[in-house]
Formats: sequence, C-alpha cells, structure tokens
Amino acid sequence: MAELIWLNGEIVPMSEARISVEDRGFQFADGVYEVIRLYGGRPFTLIEHLQRLEKSAAGIELAVPLARMQLKSEIERFLKQAGAFEGMIYLQLTRGHAPRNHLFPPSTGGTLLFYARPLEALAAVEQTPAAKLMTVADERWKRCWVKSIALLPNVLAKNAAVAAGADEAAFVDEGNVTECAASNFFAVTAGKLVTHPVGPKVLPGITRAVLLECAKELGIPVEERPMRIEQAQQADEIFITSTTREISPISHWDGRPVGRSRAVTQRLHQALRERVAAETR
Ligand code: PDD
Repeated sequence: MAELIWLNGEIVPMSEARISVEDRGFQFADGVYEVIRLYGGRPFTLIEHLQRLEKSAAGIELAVPLARMQLKSEIERFLKQAGAFEGMIYLQLTRGHAPRNHLFPPSTGGTLLFYARPLEALAAVEQTPAAKLMTVADERWKRCWVKSIALLPNVLAKNAAVAAGADEAAFVDEGNVTECAASNFFAVTAGKLVTHPVGPKVLPGITRAVLLECAKELGIPVEERPMRIEQAQQADEIFITSTTREISPISHWDGRPVGRSRAVTQRLHQALRERVAAETR
C-alpha cells in the first residue's frame, strides 16, 4: 500500500503531497514538531504530545489550526487508513507559505502535516542495548522547551558523536549536562534520580515526564537540578530517554566506561512498559 500523509486536512499518497518552496518551514525553520510512538498502531501519550505541540506553537506565536480533540480524531482517522504497526507519527506545523520576508505574514493558516513510519520493535528491558555518549558544547538557543524544527545544532552534534564512534551527543552548558541531541539525560546517584530541569536548555520530554511519575510511584527520590559533567560521569547509573528509544542505558562516555549498575534504570523501564501496555491495549 502506498505510504500516506495527512496534509492540511487531506489524506493523500506521500508521493503526491506538495508543499510550497516558500513555506516558512523550508525557508526559516519557522515551525514546531512532535514525534509520537505507536505501539501496535496505537499512539502512546497522544494528548500529552498535543498539549506540548500547543505550547511549542504558542512559544513561536503560532496557533495549532485544529482544536486538540479534533486533531486527535484526525490522527485516529489517519491511523485507521494507514494500518496498525509498530512505529511513530511525525507531525509538523509551520507558519505556512507566504512571499519570503522575515516578518510574519498576516495569516497563512499554517502547514500542518503528519505521517506514520515503522520502527523496529523494542527489545525486552534486560536486553535493551546500551548507548555511548560523546560530549558536545551546548550552543543552542535558550528556548529549548520549544520543540522547534530548527534542529541544526542537534543534527551537527549527533553527527559528530556518531562520526567519533558514539551513538548520541550529551550537551554540556557551562559545565552542566543539559540533555542530549534527541533525548533527555538522567543519572542515578546515591539512590536518587537526577535530571536537569526543563526550560531554557531542556525540552520537556514526554518520556521524561512519564518516568518521573513512575519514579514517584516506585518511591525513587527525584532531584531536578543541573549536574556537573564530572559528577554525572561518576554516577552509579546513566540513561537517556525519548519517544523512539524509550530508555537506553549508557555504557560509555567520551570513550570511557561509565555506570556501575542498571538496577534503577531497569525498574523504571519496566514501569514505563507497564504504562505503555495499560494505555495502548
Ligand atoms: N526527540 N530532548 C530533545 C532535544 C529531543 O529531540 C527529544 C525527542 C527529547 C525526548 O523527548 P520525548 O520523550 O518527548 O520524545 C529530549 C524526538 C524523538 C526526535 O526529534 O526524533
């Protein structure tokens, strides 16, 4: 079956979808996005993702053209046509097309689109492959809470990490680990779960938020505070989270082995899996 895309209200084959050369997403990276995981074709934490989309859009003075529940039912309509599978939805909203000008156009209605892509099914919690980090200076802007499509710093950081034999870039800002190129960062030290507060330098990850709830339920103390890179590298456990990877334990950082255990990481991952199972039945 031909791959489908929902584009401004219409479901069409991906090969027939057309976007203007003067779309502001293309020319100015003037837009925001979401990545939502599908488990057996069912979206996980869809409402949370749509809420974050609204916040990101408001952060760049843009409104989502559909009300939250309307967009939810459009996504569900699309998924029925696209077929159920393990994968993800990529959703993007831009300020739409208008003659190129830095100034916002009066009103374009925006360009809203989403499509689904298959992803490999995830391994059992104990078999989750570990990832390797490489430190990269965090030179991003101070509105990282906006899930902006302007991802060049993240793209460059991730490519530098992979070119050096790592899997993901750990951003360090004034000596503190903020987050990674496409994931949130966690350390477990003295039984506490530590992660940088969300805001100027850290995206409010949906997986991060679910995990903090799981930690609360499991009685694992949480500290949302900046952590020096030297301390982070000495932590008992280190892991990263995102919609597509769920949780990846970290085994190496800048070429050196890190982490002594995966006990808390695996407890949290198991709790996340239970949430997923309960919500995508
Ligand atoms: N990225 N931080 C950054 C910079 C990210 O790009 C992402 C996710 C996260 C984790 O957020 P969440 O748990 O909501 O997925 C944190 C997505 C997956 C991407 O760009 O593909």
